[in-house]
Amino acid sequence: MTKKVTIEKKGDSPIEYCDEIENGNILFFPKIPFPFPEEDIAFLLEQKQTGSKNRKNIAYKPDKERITNHEALGKSDREKMQRILKNYSDNVSSFLEGILPPYAQGWKKDYASFRPFQEKGRNLRTRARNDLLHVDAFPTRPLHGARILRFFTNINPKENRHWVTSDSFAGLLESFLGKIEVPKSVSYSNWGRLCRWGKRSLGKLGVASFLRSPYDVFMLKLHHAMKEDGGFQENCPKDHWDFPPGSCWAVFTDQLSHAALQGQYALEQTFLIPQTSLVCPEKSPLCVLERASCENLVDLELLEQSSQK
Ligand code: CO
Repeated sequence: MTKKVTIEKKGDSPIEYCDEIENGNILFFPKIPFPFPEEDIAFLLEQKQTGSKNRKNIAYKPDKERITNHEALGKSDREKMQRILKNYSDNVSSFLEGILPPYAQGWKKDYASFRPFQEKGRNLRTRARNDLLHVDAFPTRPLHGARILRFFTNINPKENRHWVTSDSFAGLLESFLGKIEVPKSVSYSNWGRLCRWGKRSLGKLGVASFLRSPYDVFMLKLHHAMKEDGGFQENCPKDHWDFPPGSCWAVFTDQLSHAALQGQYALEQTFLIPQTSLVCPEKSPLCVLERASCENLVDLELLEQSSQK
């Protein structure tokens, strides 16, 4: 079962932390391990996001240094939000560089997000619900086997953030492998190359789904199948976790099935960790799935072309 590994201060072996988190465990930090001014937290707690049509989280994109879904904010509040999320993103990155150094060399800093909504009773369509167990997969950003590492912070002054987790990836496959078809191996024949050239061209036009590897296709199907399977949601083994005000936690959310049942006001920063930076790549969802299916699920040529953008 999943363990919560509490880290009070730096100093233990980073390899051990990588090992724990790659085994599907949760790294837990009782206090925010970097400076976070009280006034910035107070500003975030005042945000209601009522003007936003889709009630989406506010996202910060580090490569563009821009926030999205900020329609409800005036100019000066928008600038303040952007500064706070940039600080958070920078602080999480330098902190994790210190405790998970094997990842820092090759990681891609993905989005940070501010989640101002109460998760309990949130009215979302099934595939978008956070309170159903799932593993994360990105429809518009194909990963080609790179891992989704997420660092969360509960900034709510009173309320715990309540999570439930179930099986890690290998256990999930036992339940779902018969129900979801695994895509066929990547082909490096001339025909395969021609198809890849076509996909790449469509990808350039902005159709992200054409740049998905067979692995990405499977992970999206798994995400949907889990949320849509009422029997699994009801009967699977569950662990409950309370993350108190002011605490942080990190987890590979593409591996450990998770759901947020209750809680409001959280921050999160995502990192994409390539296979080559992992301490135990053989435990990654990609390797576990390739072993179980005997298929070759990452298109190395498409990956190379995609990264040359
Ligand atoms: Co998730």
